[in-house]
Amino acid sequence: MAVYYARRAAEYERIYHKPERQAELRALETTLPAFFSGRRVLEIACGTGWWTVHGARDAAHWLATDLNPETMAIARAKPLPASVELRSLDAYTLAGLDGERFDAAFAGHWWSHVPRARLPAWLDTLHARLEPGARIVMLDNAYAEGSSTPITRRDAEGNSYQQRTLSDGSIHEVLKNFPERDEAIAQLGARARDPQWSATRHYWRLAYTLA
Ligand SMILES: C[S@@+](CC[C@H](N)C(=O)[O-])C[C@H]1O[C@@H](n2cnc3c(N)ncnc32)[C@H](O)[C@@H]1O
Repeated sequence: MAVYYARRAAEYERIYHKPERQAELRALETTLPAFFSGRRVLEIACGTGWWTVHGARDAAHWLATDLNPETMAIARAKPLPASVELRSLDAYTLAGLDGERFDAAFAGHWWSHVPRARLPAWLDTLHARLEPGARIVMLDNAYAEGSSTPITRRDAEGNSYQQRTLSDGSIHEVLKNFPERDEAIAQLGARARDPQWSATRHYWRLAYTLA
């Protein structure tokens, strides 16, 4: 996964140029800043910073993290809000945050790449870095026939996989899950409060508060 996204970095944002997704993207971008107004936000797997630009607009502080320097180099070259800091960090451990605490978190197109069996531990790791009352937003793809890359395989744990081709011709099998509302909310764990799910044809967004 990490290697695939390092190799894909330069062509990653093509996914945001699909004509049939434009109206939904504009709506998600417009509504994102209000979740984080005045907050100290930890962004997981920021990639090229597509959502950073929008989400961080009114934040007090926004730490955008990703494992890959290749994707973050593209984010760093963008005109980002002054509140944004970029740092290389493994989402699964969040080692390197020291004592930093946050009152909000955002992850775009990350949940879908976390194996189902790893989700509870990953959410616990994230929640441990957040203060009670923290606001969390996950945003990801809904499976849309004719627009999404077809699913080629499912494993025994219920993960689904796609075969993706990069412009150099290399083919990569990528884990990509498409949870339904009830499944995603059930996976949030005991500390999640007031989950708000919204879905359109190509995207879902799940916002909640931490007890
Ligand atoms: C689907 S992209 C999402 C990028 C961005 N959030 C967006 O929505 O456009 C997934 C990102 O996860 C990053 N990644 C892969 N493994 C990671 C890990 N263990 N920790 C942090 N980031 C990781 C990749 O470098 C890639 O930028």
